[in-house]
Amino acid sequence: MKTTRLGLLGCGTVGGGLVDLVERERPRIRARYGVDLEIRHILVRDLGKRRPGVDRRLLTSSAIDVIDDGCDIVVELIGGVHTAGAFVRRALGSGKDVVTANKALLAAHGDELFEIAAARGLSIGFEASVCGGIPIVRVLHRGLAGDSIESIRGIVNGTCNFVLSRMEEGLDFDAAVRAAQQRGFAEADPSLDIDGYDAAQKIRILSSLAFDAPITHESVIGIRTVTRAEIERAHAGGCVIRLVAEAERMPGGVTLRVRPQEIDAADIFGTIRDEFNVVAIRGRATGEVILTGKGAGAQPTASAVLADVIEIAQLRRGRGVEARDVERPIARPVAVRAAAAW
Ligand SMILES: NC(=O)c1ccc[n+]([C@@H]2O[C@H](COP(=O)([O-])OP(=O)(O)OC[C@H]3O[C@@H](n4cnc5c(N)ncnc54)[C@H](OP(=O)(O)O)[C@@H]3O)[C@@H](O)[C@H]2O)c1
Repeated sequence: MKTTRLGLLGCGTVGGGLVDLVERERPRIRARYGVDLEIRHILVRDLGKRRPGVDRRLLTSSAIDVIDDGCDIVVELIGGVHTAGAFVRRALGSGKDVVTANKALLAAHGDELFEIAAARGLSIGFEASVCGGIPIVRVLHRGLAGDSIESIRGIVNGTCNFVLSRMEEGLDFDAAVRAAQQRGFAEADPSLDIDGYDAAQKIRILSSLAFDAPITHESVIGIRTVTRAEIERAHAGGCVIRLVAEAERMPGGVTLRVRPQEIDAADIFGTIRDEFNVVAIRGRATGEVILTGKGAGAQPTASAVLADVIEIAQLRRGRGVEARDVERPIARPVAVRAAAAW
């Protein structure tokens, strides 16, 4: 069995999770999928940092070591736009498939990167970039390929869940945001999450995977205006408030909405807290399909990254022309369409 060599860019929360997961799951992946994985190099900024479970001999501060030195798939987990973009361009330019969890990068440069990949016959896996450990990209693109999707509704932003959950426990909005920042749930500038734009980006991506139709209406309202009084009123009526993102097929296009909604506390959407996400997809033939799970965190996100790695490794392993024919509709045009919507 030929070994698939991984070049890992980044060994932080998700990268560290991936190192653990590859180590733990390698025998199962080999037996079940016929894919033998080896991490060849790992790019980090600080070579002296403590990284339990990571073989220090694999660490380097040179991206060129990782990308150019004999790996098959480059896994980008450094985050950010500029440097990550340069590394991904270099990886694609040198014929490497790429897996990334970086929604910000794809939002800024997805069109260009997917075009480069398509032109070179390469894949970019991005399952982990939306809803962390929930395999929503695959479900929308493959699992429900036989159905027409009518709507998608989700709670997809962990920061807003965390803030609203703390407000239910008695904190006011500002204190709840500070608590989210202290726990690492929110950025120093939390506006992307709090004002609903992160949720809007995610529902746009999901919408571009689900519908062959343009977005004709979009409205985004975040949770900044939600008050403790509103949360208490909802609570008295057996409800909670959550930031809900929706995409609905309408005549002529797709309507997107992100807004706080009052939800029955007993409804599955009402039980979602902190890093958990939920997505409900309604198909014309299938009816409703609901996925819920961790939308962030080291191991859940690493698991989505690893699923992309396994899929691409299988495609690379090559079943001749057939494999390439399968790859085209799965990885590239979808990715290009998704990118176009970002
Ligand atoms: N965390 C999550 O739950 C989650 C969920 C979904 C998606 N994602 C996405 O996954 C990606 C990684 O997130 P993360 O939370 O794992 O980030 P992180 O903990 O900050 O880790 C980033 C890693 O990249 C390295 N790095 C950053 N800039 C570098 C540079 N210029 N040169 C070399 N190494 C560099 C860092 O090195 P040092 O260790 O030396 O500092 C670190 O190992 C991001 O795109 C994020 O949006 C994260």
